[in-house]
Amino acid sequence: MNPPEVTPASSLIPRTVANSQSEMTELILPNDTNVLGNLLGGRLMHYIDMTGAMAAYRHARTYIVTAAMDHIDFIQPVHLGNLITLKSSVNRAFTTSMEVGVKVWAEDTQTGKVLHVASAFLVFVAIDKQGRRVRVPEVIPETPEEQRHYADALLRREHREAEAARRKQEKAAHREREAANVE
Ligand SMILES: CC(C)(COP(=O)(O)OP(=O)(O)OC[C@H]1O[C@@H](n2cnc3c(N)ncnc32)[C@H](O)[C@@H]1OP(=O)(O)O)[C@@H](O)C(=O)NCCC(=O)NCCS
Repeated sequence: MNPPEVTPASSLIPRTVANSQSEMTELILPNDTNVLGNLLGGRLMHYIDMTGAMAAYRHARTYIVTAAMDHIDFIQPVHLGNLITLKSSVNRAFTTSMEVGVKVWAEDTQTGKVLHVASAFLVFVAIDKQGRRVRVPEVIPETPEEQRHYADALLRREHREAEAARRKQEKAAHREREAANVE
């Protein structure tokens, strides 16, 4: 666990979502696929993490770490030879953390057909070189869609916190049961 102090970033001037939006395109090759010729889930998660990190870096302009990845929906398989495009946006910034949304599309290079194949939400935390958490600038949501993502990000944060508290309680209860069994 890092020391509790929050170091201010060099600039805390609020930034628009467009300011840090990021994009990555990859060609799916045999090494990326399973025996059925579909993109491996773990490889897709890596691409999602990388694209999400790009937006978080551009927003925070400091070092960042992935704190959580949640709500990944693998909607459609991605096939060998497809081109995948990932787009990321910072939905909302809190004190030292940012929620980033990543959306993924696959393109059939022969037909040009494009399908939405996956979506995910990630939380990145800004840190300095010493690993101390760093305050991040606020996000300015401009479009109605960005405003919806901004509002929903707060609800997801509350849900994550409630879920973390529930897991903590469950672990404590488990430890108590184990201790009672040993005695
Ligand atoms: C993420 C990390 C920096 C949080 O450190 P911490 O000392 O637990 O920090 P705190 O509990 O004070 O939380 C700091 C911020 O992170 C957020 N956060 C921490 N854990 C989180 C989680 N599991 N999910 C979502 N947000 C989280 C908190 O809400 C808080 O946000 P805020 O400042 O905007 O309010 C620390 O746990 C860490 O370094 N983890 C490893 C990161 C890593 O190596 N990632 C790659 C692994 S594959």
